Order: sequence, then structure tokens, then C-alpha cells
Amino acid sequence: MNIFLIGFMGCGKSTAARYIGSHYGMGYVEMDRQIEEEQGCSISEIFAERGEEYFRKLETELLGRLESGPDQVVSCGGGTPMRECNVELMKKQGRIVLLTASAETVYDRVKNSHNRPLLEGNMNVDYIKGLMEMRMPRYEAAADIVVKTDRMNISDICRGIMEKL
Ligand code: S3P
Repeated sequence: MNIFLIGFMGCGKSTAARYIGSHYGMGYVEMDRQIEEEQGCSISEIFAERGEEYFRKLETELLGRLESGPDQVVSCGGGTPMRECNVELMKKQGRIVLLTASAETVYDRVKNSHNRPLLEGNMNVDYIKGLMEMRMPRYEAAADIVVKTDRMNISDICRGIMEKL
């Protein structure tokens, strides 16, 4: 069984996946980093040179490949659950965990990052809040469990995830 961590950018998916990987003896995959390694360029370059749609196809293709690999915890991109076929692939392979955080918390966590093309030029709480509200119904529909991450430390977040699973 794979564990898929979904949620908005800056909700702590990558940190939690790494932590669960090392403390609970599981392999972990960070989809964005894996795609960057395989493509030999950054997410920003993929968006700029090939377009978002191309990136979305890479995400779906990678999710499909995870099915035949070992059980692991997978940190998804924030947009991964927006495609229904991705949700189906995840459901077939394991459990889906939604990590949440307020727009203010997300802003604090991502404001200095420049590898999130959707936030380039939109780096403010209002934009984050709007996009988060648009996406939340799909995140919630996809999730088997939901874990809040505001003001929580990483070990409590991961204990919460593993206990609820
Ligand atoms: C995206 C989130 C990013 C990355 C890409 C698009 C999104 O991943 O996949 O920039 O659509 O929300 P993180 O959630 O890991 O930042």
C-alpha cells in the first residue's frame, strides 16, 4: 500500500513524506523532485518551456509507474488531485491523506520560494486563499483522512497521519 500526501503548496507534504520515510521505515517519493530529476530541469523550466499541460501529463505518468514499485509514501504536487484520473490511480494504490494549513501559514512557508510557477507574481495571501478555496472541494473528495498542520510540529503531524491510517 502506498500513502499519498496531498494538499496545497506549502502544506508540509514533502517534509512529512521525508519524516515518515525515515522514522517509519518506508521509502518515499517526492513527485516534483522525481519529475525534475527525470526531465533534467526544474519545475519552473518545465512550465516555461513545455507548458502546464505537459507537466500534468508527467504527473499522471509518474503516478501510473508507482503502482509497480515498492510500498512508499508519496508527496504529491499541489495540483495532482485536480485530475480525476490521478485520484483514481492513487485510490487504487493505497490511502490518500490531505494535509491542510491556512492561507497565512502557506504564505509564510512559501513566500521566499521561486520554484512554484503558479505563485510567481501572485505571492500574496489573497491569491493563495482564492486558489486554495477553489481546490479544497476536490482535495476533500479525494482524501481518506485529513490532518491539520497549522502550528503543529512535524513529529506530531506524522504521528497524527500514522494513527489515523
Ligand atoms: C503545483 C504545486 C507544486 C508543483 C507545481 C504545481 C500546484 O508542488 O507541482 O508548481 O499546481 O499546486 P508543491 O505542492 O509540492 O509545491
